[in-house]
Amino acid sequence: MNKRAPTAGPEAVSAPILGIETSCDETAAAVLSADGVVLAEAGHSQLQEHARFGGVVPEVAARAHLSRLPAMVADVMRRAGVAFSDLCGVAATAGPGLIGGLVVGSSFGKGVALAHALPFVPVNHLEAHALTVLMPGLGEPAFPYLLLLVSGGHCQCVAVLGLGRYRRLGTTLDDAVGEAFDKSAKLLGLPWPGGPALEQLAKLGDPAAIPLPRPLLGRPGCDFSFSGLKTAVARAVAQGGRREDIAASFQAAVAAVLADRARHALRLMPDATALVVAGGVAANAAVRQALAGEALRAGVAQEAPPPRLCGDNAVMVAWAGLLRLRAGLSGAVDFAPRPRWPLSEMTCA
Ligand code: KG4
Ligand code: ZN
Repeated sequence: MNKRAPTAGPEAVSAPILGIETSCDETAAAVLSADGVVLAEAGHSQLQEHARFGGVVPEVAARAHLSRLPAMVADVMRRAGVAFSDLCGVAATAGPGLIGGLVVGSSFGKGVALAHALPFVPVNHLEAHALTVLMPGLGEPAFPYLLLLVSGGHCQCVAVLGLGRYRRLGTTLDDAVGEAFDKSAKLLGLPWPGGPALEQLAKLGDPAAIPLPRPLLGRPGCDFSFSGLKTAVARAVAQGGRREDIAASFQAAVAAVLADRARHALRLMPDATALVVAGGVAANAAVRQALAGEALRAGVAQEAPPPRLCGDNAVMVAWAGLLRLRAGLSGAVDFAPRPRWPLSEMTCA
């Protein structure tokens, strides 16, 4: 069955796609139908493997991906009731991320694609986060929209102009926001990764109790900075502040800064239809609430994928692959994984 014509340009895709994610510490695989419905998905977070080191160890991550991915792919294919030869293509994260994991996932994907004469789609992990909200049944905002990408490795305001067309409006000058959550959580004695644990602790605290800085708030542009905030958390801990109050005050400061930066970015994008928040930190309720207020003020929709699709997952990778195949944009099987792959270097042809 020819599921995809070899020429470039918009195409009807009529078969399911397999997606693979291995760029950091989540091993994941998913099968989506041609219209983007999830047929089967699986994910294994390597938290236990890395917890005793207090962070992701690249070699440990690569080995864990290698040991889990083959069985996981077989499992999602079986549950989806799809044979490899029935797929329209294979999408795998090819960057940015930790090179060992990227090599494991993309090599596996290329192997399946070559063995079954399918297109291979090298997916940019950031593009996958950026496009998740376009999945059927989610917000489905129209281009252009403002993306606030807030994760453990990234903190950016991005103008999403179309598939493969991105303009970075601002980024962090030091730590990513998820990193700030993780480091502050560690200072509070919480287990890694600290974001979700800090959010729980913050529920028991007073967000106005500890005066913490709000770095770059009100400054022109939409860059971020979080290292000063983390230092202030360290000071508050050393001074014996109540842990719950420090957590709540930290979270309030982060939410205020993200809202302020989003406000500035929206001013740079007067034609934006929506404010979309994605990445692991988008699971945080206080952050979502602050951004919803900002979107309301700017008169645009606020969209965020459901929390389970905010963190790393293979559904978003399969979806990005599907959109690329539909646009006639499959990649080459000799695409070399890219540990650094800014969205501004994406191609749309
Ligand atoms: O997108 P993601 O799963 O992985 C990448 O970094 O690409 O994001 C993980 C980050 C971690 O720093 C984690 O602490 C943070 O997202 N995070 C949260 C929450 N859930 C995850 N931060 C704050 N509140 C949360 N509920
Ligand atoms: Zn991510």
